[in-house]
Amino acid sequence: MNIVITGASQGIGYATAVELAKNGSHTIICISRDETKLKYLQDEIERLSSNTTIIPMPFDLLKLTNTSDEPAASISKLIGKVDILINNAGLLHVKSFIDLTPNEIQSMVMVNYLAPTLLIRQMLPYMNKGSHVVNISSMGGFQGSTKFPGLSVYASSKAALASLTENLAEEYKDLGISFNCLALGATDTEMFHQAFPGFNASQSAKGMANFIAYFAINGNKFFNGKILPVSLSTP
Ligand SMILES: NC(=O)c1ccc[n+]([C@@H]2O[C@H](COP(=O)([O-])OP(=O)(O)OC[C@H]3O[C@@H](n4cnc5c(N)ncnc54)[C@H](OP(=O)(O)O)[C@@H]3O)[C@@H](O)[C@H]2O)c1
Repeated sequence: MNIVITGASQGIGYATAVELAKNGSHTIICISRDETKLKYLQDEIERLSSNTTIIPMPFDLLKLTNTSDEPAASISKLIGKVDILINNAGLLHVKSFIDLTPNEIQSMVMVNYLAPTLLIRQMLPYMNKGSHVVNISSMGGFQGSTKFPGLSVYASSKAALASLTENLAEEYKDLGISFNCLALGATDTEMFHQAFPGFNASQSAKGMANFIAYFAINGNKFFNGKILPVSLSTP
């Protein structure tokens, strides 16, 4: 399958690319800013001697604009159509609401909500019937879940991404393109330790990635327009 995943340089995105590669023959375009880490991912997957090809695509999602069709133009040139788009990149600044600078607020809303929105819009012409968009949200943005001080804009930008998922599923159901959203619970990555210093996450990045990889390939046979909590705790 032809897969695009954002935020693949570390954490859950990196581990998801590895899990996808272990279990199939894919071409995966891996997007994030850090070219060195993307190259490391490519080398790791080559060492696994899997049938998957990794294509690193260094790109800053803060630079998605109305006036350029990048990165979609480069993606379509490289692989043509896209079967799966995983909007995994995320940005967190842990600060009380009043201490967040306008720039920090804008960059969180951009990476967590606007960039997936613009990327989906760019990529839709290259997605056929049967394609699957998986948006990675957070339990923090899940209605009724426990909320934490310092995460207001992060969590609400993730809630917006969840709502976008439901709306696009309705709008594109006749074209056979599915949209689902996974609201992840605590997972052992840099972002988790930044949000909750000194706490242990209930899930490893590899464990969560294993589920996301399975869901990206198979989830659209069972779900469309769903916001699914992927968490061991309730709520
Ligand atoms: N860990 C958790 O407990 C948890 C819980 C709920 C939801 N999530 C969500 O799961 C996803 C993955 O999180 P994680 O824990 O793996 O976080 P992470 O380790 O901080 O990784 C974040 C990824 O996003 C990329 N990214 C950030 N800003 C970017 C930009 N401007 N342009 C391109 N890429 C950018 C980073 O790559 P570069 O720095 O190389 O650009 C990195 O690969 C996020 O959406 C997060 O919100 C995580």
